[in-house]
Amino acid sequence: MKTLSTAVIGFGFMGKTHTYGYKTIPLFYEPDFNIRLAAVCARNYEHALAAKERYGFAHAAHNLDEILALPDIDIIDICTPNSMHTQAILKALDAKKHIYCEKPVACGPAETRLILAHSHLNEVVTQTVFNNRFLPAAKLAKQFMQEERLGRILSFRARMIMPSNINPSTPIRWRNTRQQAGGGVLYDLGAHVMDMLTWLAGPVQSVYTKNQTAYAKRPDGKGGFAPVDTDDASYSVVTLANGAVGIAEASKLATGTNTDLYIEIHGTKGALKIDFMDANWLYYYDANAPYKGYTRLETVQNYGGVSPFPPPRHPLGWLRGHADSLYEFLRAVAEDRPAQPSLQDGLYVQSILDAMYQSAQENKEISL
Ligand SMILES: NC(=O)c1ccc[n+]([C@@H]2O[C@H](COP(=O)([O-])OP(=O)(O)OC[C@H]3O[C@@H](n4cnc5c(N)ncnc54)[C@H](O)[C@@H]3O)[C@@H](O)[C@H]2O)c1
Repeated sequence: MKTLSTAVIGFGFMGKTHTYGYKTIPLFYEPDFNIRLAAVCARNYEHALAAKERYGFAHAAHNLDEILALPDIDIIDICTPNSMHTQAILKALDAKKHIYCEKPVACGPAETRLILAHSHLNEVVTQTVFNNRFLPAAKLAKQFMQEERLGRILSFRARMIMPSNINPSTPIRWRNTRQQAGGGVLYDLGAHVMDMLTWLAGPVQSVYTKNQTAYAKRPDGKGGFAPVDTDDASYSVVTLANGAVGIAEASKLATGTNTDLYIEIHGTKGALKIDFMDANWLYYYDANAPYKGYTRLETVQNYGGVSPFPPPRHPLGWLRGHADSLYEFLRAVAEDRPAQPSLQDGLYVQSILDAMYQSAQENKEISL
């Protein structure tokens, strides 16, 4: 059996989430390849050492360069703050490593162009972590869209909303600074919203965006305050190339929510709704049915699933979407074929987010 050696760069929330994937994929899918946790690095070496000891990585490294000098690395798995993604991608491409990269892939059009211009981009397997695509309700929704069950798409609502920036006393983190995050909530949550929307309903023609920052300063953790130069919420009117018009929202100012991702698409022949807080179901409305109202279709752990474990009737969790996303990537590496969504797909979403920032700044509709 092939062995795929992976190195995780950045070991915070996503470093752990991806490691959960590497460790559980053999249980979920019984793959015909082995996974080797080859190396890990974080901002400080002690943190990387702790991850090595606790989770069984072969090496703890000081940085990506040290990892790339190791003889046996197949995959660079990028889980660092946004502003470090492009540099890591370029170095991994220089070294012809396969790349699994968190969203948002890049920070701004110049970085996007640099990655797209790299001569090795199509010579390795790449994937952007758009994990929500991998939940069964999303897969069934995609199938319904491909079957054109909704007819001509007329309108939509897509949002990802959280409460995390409501409290003005919450200290500033890398996510609240343009220097480290590249953007605000639009990059952070808007990336998921625009990926899901365009994957299901088609490419964007134009955007008109207003962003909101609730508090101009936040505690800096040293007794003072630091300026916030990123958005806490973003609201867009989006026109798709197929003529449909709708609303896209990304917010961390939504009191009473958790990680609420919600997509609703309306067409001439029907409609569908996915609510990821209620992820075991897809809601489908058939305008030609003899009854009225949405039908709640159970998706649990079915649809596009190749997992023998657990039996699909068991309810679904968020981590499973991440594991399934990673499994798609690892299978593509093992089978030496392209993965989806690729880095190019991630960079397409990036171009929409950057058009949204331009629209908010210039207060006008921007065409893509
Ligand atoms: N797909 C999803 O569901 C999802 C969810 C959350 C975050 N994300 C994305 O994942 C990425 C990481 O977010 P997070 O929530 O894990 O952040 P985090 O702050 O929890 O972790 C970031 C990690 O990067 C490390 N780091 C910082 N600078 C580094 C450097 N120079 N070299 C190596 N490591 C360094 C830190 O030590 C830390 O371990 C972001 O791009 C974010 O947008 C994706």
